[in-house]
Amino acid sequence: MAIGTGGRLGYINGMANSEKLLRVANVGLDYAGSAGNGPVAVLRGVSLELARGETLAITGPSGSGKSTLLNVIGTLDRPTRGSVFLEGRDLSQLGEAELAAVRNEQIGFVFQAHFLLPQCTVWENVLVPTLAGNNAKRAEAPARAERLLKRVGLGERMTHRPGQLSGGERQRAAVVRALINQPKLLLADEPTGALDRAAAGQLAQLLLELNREEGVSLIVVTHAPDLARKMGRVFELADGALAQCD
Ligand SMILES: Nc1ncnc2c1ncn2[C@@H]1O[C@H](COP(=O)(O)OP(=O)(O)OP(=O)(O)O)[C@@H](O)[C@H]1O
Ligand SMILES: [Mg+2]
Repeated sequence: MAIGTGGRLGYINGMANSEKLLRVANVGLDYAGSAGNGPVAVLRGVSLELARGETLAITGPSGSGKSTLLNVIGTLDRPTRGSVFLEGRDLSQLGEAELAAVRNEQIGFVFQAHFLLPQCTVWENVLVPTLAGNNAKRAEAPARAERLLKRVGLGERMTHRPGQLSGGERQRAAVVRALINQPKLLLADEPTGALDRAAAGQLAQLLLELNREEGVSLIVVTHAPDLARKMGRVFELADGALAQCD
């Protein structure tokens, strides 16, 4: 039987090009309630698509489930309902070891608190994620760490420990650590929440520059309107669902 090869290839290429980096499909998450109460639905059908290189902010009241959603996207939590697809792969079908590899190699995390190891230098901290994972990336890691640390203005701070850095410098080190394995997706939960206005503005600018330079997609949870406005799209999480803000 003759098959129209050209058409078939065109179809496959078309599929690959239109494949979103991330697709969150009708995700629900329940937390167990207190004694006597049923489960509490924190997320009630969240859907979202993110293309490669895109930037997106998630805002919403305290307790609305923003961190919960970021944890589900980042494979730290499994949804109760629905699925998260990364490059078309349904993460709910993966076992713990495969999820750990996705988390280590494809996704970078930045939190409000930097979570740097206090006894290690900046240099050692940013290389921690390269200890697990594939050898090719590990071989490139020292050169990449040096380049990125210089890029974020920490070239003179590589042998400092976190306690010897300012808050903004610590967050910049945390950003380099999140990017060291060349993730496709960077998830940031209130990354400027503990910074003063000047340092927060600087970090926001840096995240956007790295988004462009590294091609990494960005999802930022923030209460800061200044930071949210800088992202390509802004969503609000309320009553367990996302709505796009204009
Ligand atoms: N492990 C857990 N077990 C039970 N309930 C939880 C758990 N983690 C979070 N919650 C509840 O889920 C809801 C959403 O929490 P989440 O931390 O996602 O909110 P948030 O939007 O990030 O808030 P904030 O802006 O204050 O950081 C809250 O009511 C919280 O109490
Ligand atoms: Mg939170």
